[in-house]
Amino acid sequence: MVTIDTIRKPIEAELAEFDSFVRSHFSAEGGLLSEMLEYVLSSRGKGIRPMIAMLSAAMISPSGTIGKRTYLAAMLVEMIHMASLIHDDVIDDADKRRGRPSVNARWQSKNAVLAGDYVLARNMDIGMSSGQYDIVSHVIRTIATLCEGEVLQGDHASKMDTSREDYFEIIGKKTASLIAVSASAGALSVKGTPAQIAAMHRFGEAAGMAFQIADDILDYTSQSSVTGKPVNADIRERKITLPLIEVLERADAEHRRELLDAVAVCADDPSKAEFVRSAVEREGGIERAREVMKAYLQRAMSVLSQFEPSPYRESLTQFCSYVAEREK
Ligand code: FPP
Ligand code: MG
Repeated sequence: MVTIDTIRKPIEAELAEFDSFVRSHFSAEGGLLSEMLEYVLSSRGKGIRPMIAMLSAAMISPSGTIGKRTYLAAMLVEMIHMASLIHDDVIDDADKRRGRPSVNARWQSKNAVLAGDYVLARNMDIGMSSGQYDIVSHVIRTIATLCEGEVLQGDHASKMDTSREDYFEIIGKKTASLIAVSASAGALSVKGTPAQIAAMHRFGEAAGMAFQIADDILDYTSQSSVTGKPVNADIRERKITLPLIEVLERADAEHRRELLDAVAVCADDPSKAEFVRSAVEREGGIERAREVMKAYLQRAMSVLSQFEPSPYRESLTQFCSYVAEREK
């Protein structure tokens, strides 16, 4: 079983330096904003995006050395991600994140919205002040893409009409776009060639699609105590994700209606959520979604094979195994 620690090994020292880099740039003015910022910074999660940015940079940098430009790229993507999760929990009305109360649960939605805005604004300010405009403009575009994905998801959730194509568009925008930019911004930060930057973008996109499919599978298979998120959260939010799409596509009209009627009332009726969850498991939705996820991981790994072997390339390959095996 591959762990995040194994993947991080070749850049362990740089990741420690990166943590200080983030801390030195992100401090608030005091009061409630500082409290909220401290709260989110002290539970940064797995740090997958900065890790990918830094591994990508180290793999492409001729000597494996990375410096401030890479830390900047890694920080920009990580803080965009952090802001998006603070807002996401407001949108989803989620009370838990990483096993702790979400910012909205602890300080109310109105403060959480501002905390997310603040992180995003400070991030852009730091980026612009750095003068590394190529990196800032490379990364900044994804914010709009994330918003597009989130709005699309909400619209389809309210209509409960997410098709397979809609689903891929949603996860491509809300998740894969930022992971793609993490990998390509890492490459850009060490002055990779346009071909290398584009290749790493393709790597991140495929790995990011797989990562979100794995997340959506976990919503059906994992316990809240492991994921740190509410149980059956997606169907309770009427989010139709790949495991359910796989089942809906094969269901006859009557069963399809039965499943969708159950999804419609899941939020208030845990027994209906359990009905949908067990149908998805029994009818092969999880296995089929896993096959799709594995195909994306294959695509990601084939991009990596174009690069020279190195401990950094090995870590990125291990990241693909980690996605396939992840439990939270
Ligand atoms: C988590 O998805 C959410 C995202 C991947 C993106 C959220 C994007 C926005 C709220 C748009 C605004 C963006 C910024 C930068 C302010 P999920 O709900 O499926 O995952 P979860 O189970 O972790 O909540
Ligand atoms: Mg959410």
